[in-house]
Amino acid sequence: MVNTTTTKHTSDFLIENKVNVPKEFNRIASRYDFATSMSQGYQQDLNTSARRMNLKGNEHVLDLCCGTGKSTLACLGVLPNGKITGVDNSEEMLAIAEKKFSKEIQSGKVEFMLKDAMKLDFPENSFDAIFMAYGLRNMPDYEACVQGLYRILKPGGTLCIHDYSLSDTWYSRPYWKILGYGFIIPISTILTGNSTIFSYLIKSVLNFLTPNQAKALLDKNGFKEISAKPLSGWRAPIQHTILAKKPN
Ligand SMILES: C[S@@+](CC[C@H](N)C(=O)[O-])C[C@H]1O[C@@H](n2cnc3c(N)ncnc32)[C@H](O)[C@@H]1O
Repeated sequence: MVNTTTTKHTSDFLIENKVNVPKEFNRIASRYDFATSMSQGYQQDLNTSARRMNLKGNEHVLDLCCGTGKSTLACLGVLPNGKITGVDNSEEMLAIAEKKFSKEIQSGKVEFMLKDAMKLDFPENSFDAIFMAYGLRNMPDYEACVQGLYRILKPGGTLCIHDYSLSDTWYSRPYWKILGYGFIIPISTILTGNSTIFSYLIKSVLNFLTPNQAKALLDKNGFKEISAKPLSGWRAPIQHTILAKKPN
């Protein structure tokens, strides 16, 4: 039997076996916040997507694939009176999130749970909104995941997908390859000592849905008021906030 905690995987193995991606995040968890803080605009972009959900501020939000809690922080910024459930399937990423938000956990504003995003066992209509930052791309079956999200979202609830999703322009793919192979892999490998997850990142983005394909998938699965908005600056051709609502 393969021990997925200690076995070293290749990026191609992870593309084929995405269920092992959280285990790979375990390896870089302690350096994840430092590495992403070197990525200009990382937290600001999460904050922008969280604001785009246009919440009232008292909702219960599922921060799916919350990692070390950078997306949780973005959600907190728009929920002065709300509650956040953070879910991730990497023990080590969650351990860091729990340390960071110990005050909010104690007050009952934030809770974290270890779960597979493909097997969410929350009751139907549980959440007012779902924020999924850099999550859907890591799912082995995008459509099955989206169907699960629809089930647990309340009628009228908002789904926000924040991810590297390459627009349909001719230059977005070569631009991503230059960024990925020229900068992201070499720099992140120096910062974290691990190249596998970053090499996987570049490939998984090349295989992921374009904003138009993501919109079509959401439409096919019953969502309404679907939109895709680019993030600003150098990320505009490669990163989007995709928003949709479950009809009332
Ligand atoms: C790039 S991190 C994003 C973390 C955070 N949302 C952020 O914006 O910084 C992706 C996260 O997805 C988690 N993940 C990947 N596949 C998952 C799955 N099937 N179920 C739950 N979490 C998963 C990983 O463990 C990792 O923490």
